[in-house]
Amino acid sequence: MDTVKHSVFSGMRPSGRLHLGNYIGALQNWVALQDEFRCIYCAVDVHALTDMQGEATREIQPNIREMVLDWLAAGVDPERSLVFVQSQVPEVMVLHTLLSMVTPLGWLMRVPTFKDKVRQLQETEESVSYGLVGYPVLMTADIILYKADTVPVGEDQLPHLELAREIVRRFNHLYGHTFPEPQPRLTEYPLILGLDGKQKMSKSLDNHIELAATPEETSARVKTAFTDPQRLRRTDPGRPSICNVYALHKLFNPDKLDEVYQQCTSAQLGCVDDKQLLADGINKTLEPFRERRREFVEKSGYVEEVLQEGARRARAIARETLSEVRDKMGISEVTL
Ligand code: AMP
Ligand code: TRP
Repeated sequence: MDTVKHSVFSGMRPSGRLHLGNYIGALQNWVALQDEFRCIYCAVDVHALTDMQGEATREIQPNIREMVLDWLAAGVDPERSLVFVQSQVPEVMVLHTLLSMVTPLGWLMRVPTFKDKVRQLQETEESVSYGLVGYPVLMTADIILYKADTVPVGEDQLPHLELAREIVRRFNHLYGHTFPEPQPRLTEYPLILGLDGKQKMSKSLDNHIELAATPEETSARVKTAFTDPQRLRRTDPGRPSICNVYALHKLFNPDKLDEVYQQCTSAQLGCVDDKQLLADGINKTLEPFRERRREFVEKSGYVEEVLQEGARRARAIARETLSEVRDKMGISEVTL
């Protein structure tokens, strides 16, 4: 067990209902860390604007609600953790501006996720918004506004955290030690592949399974999963080591692993039945989550109440940090 008292922060963009990758890769750690540390969890709606414009932004409010329902159902506990919406603590936007003054543009342009995003949006480095380039600066502001040192995320966020540490080092060097360097906290499975078995599970690639899907939807999605491409006939033996369905069995059917391995490699178990077995495992594992989620959906006004209280408490911490930063940077709130 950790003997140091850590301070935990993490965020997710409000893109709607979460999928198995979000849960296994990050949310499970959000829940587990609450037992030991002060945790702050944030729906980062301003980050959503970095690649969303116009009409599409109408989705942000309903998406926040769907996502927070998933957090609560997974076990994020507002009695122990702060849960809030990023824009409701506007201090983060001030800190973002101040941090942008100590962040060389070259650092931001080199982040691999920036290059990927430019490609994905079919834009150029010149045509994307200033806000998108500054994505990791806003993320750094999110974390250090609460002086958090531990950030539970999936593997895809590691480049952002590396940059956050560089910004912190630079700030501390220029203005004196102020912030701890935030370290990632990964789960045992920090990168979950999607149903295509090739790319990371992601809503935008439509290769995902939603946590809140019905058992029928889950079975239908699992049926589309890619398995061993060399297994053309039912009588061909399968190769579990390269099959993503087998990888998912490790998570959802840990007690059936040996049996599945043995029956797949000896061609006793075909891919259709194997996938049904996986869907059953997922549905059984997620049944308590889905039940709790239904209960939260029915608690009228609850999500709003949680977010309001979270923002109120987060804001008190944020104001203190921001005031310290302003003093150090020579733009103190005290007038001359
Ligand atoms: P996103 O929905 O992409 O904003 O991700 C929210 C959180 O889930 C982040 O901490 C991600 O690193 C994590 N995450 C998203 N997709 C996956 C995946 N396929 N495997 C593991 N972690 C993931
Ligand atoms: N970039 C993260 C993602 O896409 C979301 C995020 C924003 C975040 N601010 C953060 C994660 C601060 C951890 C800490 O998932």
